[in-house]
Amino acid sequence: MKRTILITGGAGFIGSHMVRLMVNKYPNYLIVNLDKLTYAGNLKNLLDVEGCSNYIFEKGDIVNTDFISKIFSKYNFDSIIHLAAESHVDRSIHSPMEFIMTNIIGTVNLLHAAKNLWKDNLEGKLFFHVSTDEVYGSLGQTGLFTELTSYDPQSPYSSSKASSDHFVRSYGNTYNIPYLISNCSNNYGPNQFPEKLLPLFINNIQESKPLPVYGDGNFTRDWLYVEDHVKAIDLIFHSGKINETYNIGGCNEWKNIDLINLLCKKMDVHLNNPAGTSEKLITYVKDRPGHDKRYAIDASKLQSELSWKPSLQFEQGLEKTIVWYLNNYEWLSDVTSGEYQNYYEQQYK
Ligand code: NAD
Ligand code: DAU
Repeated sequence: MKRTILITGGAGFIGSHMVRLMVNKYPNYLIVNLDKLTYAGNLKNLLDVEGCSNYIFEKGDIVNTDFISKIFSKYNFDSIIHLAAESHVDRSIHSPMEFIMTNIIGTVNLLHAAKNLWKDNLEGKLFFHVSTDEVYGSLGQTGLFTELTSYDPQSPYSSSKASSDHFVRSYGNTYNIPYLISNCSNNYGPNQFPEKLLPLFINNIQESKPLPVYGDGNFTRDWLYVEDHVKAIDLIFHSGKINETYNIGGCNEWKNIDLINLLCKKMDVHLNNPAGTSEKLITYVKDRPGHDKRYAIDASKLQSELSWKPSLQFEQGLEKTIVWYLNNYEWLSDVTSGEYQNYYEQQYK
């Protein structure tokens, strides 16, 4: 095998697309997927690569120092693509400690294990940290986040991600660990857990349940199809300048309410409902505390240095996403049973 790569959080939404891309595109890389399988991790996301000879799954917690140290000795990784995290802003408002443990302590554990493993030879080694645009805080009506925008995280989630970014850079500066960081905007696509806006609303429309719009619905996000995100990570992983940061975004801003109206129209067509049926489910609810008004990414560094651009138009991506959820009702009903019901009650009571 030419490389042995640890992918953390590979059973989650973005992680499973990352694992699939790497396993299929690079048969001469050994891909080790390490995941704790929290409520957000689901090995059914990876049934198609399960039997591949260049793929191994290891269940474990990145917060567990002994376990991490054993895994690093066992495989002698030369690179890490770190996606494991607690990722939902609303959950971070209710339970910030889990975010601090996984997103900060877990990241430092991995950095520490990499430092110990690579101490005698840093040649060809790489710690790739997958982060978010939320570390930059909130934009006003105009402007874009660049790689030089100051950090100004507002939620426990974004603060924990910001902290992990700082630790990655500090291990680079202090111990010469070669690293790359990417900060991406909102992803959407198949396999996203239905606590996030699009899959939650697709699920609720199918079940004729209210669509809970936070505040006045005039919050803006920049949406990118998940496969375009993982293709960008692959490109940066292989060709990015070491110790640099790259912003990734779709150049595709939508106000929540406009996006929700578009989704409702498309769902009515797919479900053969009379026009306007889904829109009637829209229900304005109490705003998320500390809700960031607007995110928008300037991805020109990635475009000019590495010639990256998103492959899908947003309407195509949204269609593909809706079709996937409609065709995978079993996946959706599996993940919305059990603990999900308690979460839903708590969040939307
Ligand atoms: P997700 O919640 O769908 O998946 C997270 C995965 O990490 C799950 O499989 C979970 O089991 C695993 N995990 C959680 N805690 C763990 C622990 N302690 N040890 C080992 N595994 C653990 O998240 P996602 O949306 O796929 O996001 C993946 C990464 O990308 C995160 O770091 C997130 O901050 C970042 N990101 C997400 C988005 C987005 O829009 N979803 C955008 C930019 C960046
Ligand atoms: O920007 C990147 C980030 O995007 C990632 O780092 C996070 O992991 C990911 O969860 C996402 O964060 P957001 O908070 O933007 O995503 P979410 O899907 O939770 O919400 C999108 C917008 O929709 C936001 O303005 C809040 C609003 N919303 C969300 C939910 C769940 C609602 O109005 N109602 C809802 O029920």
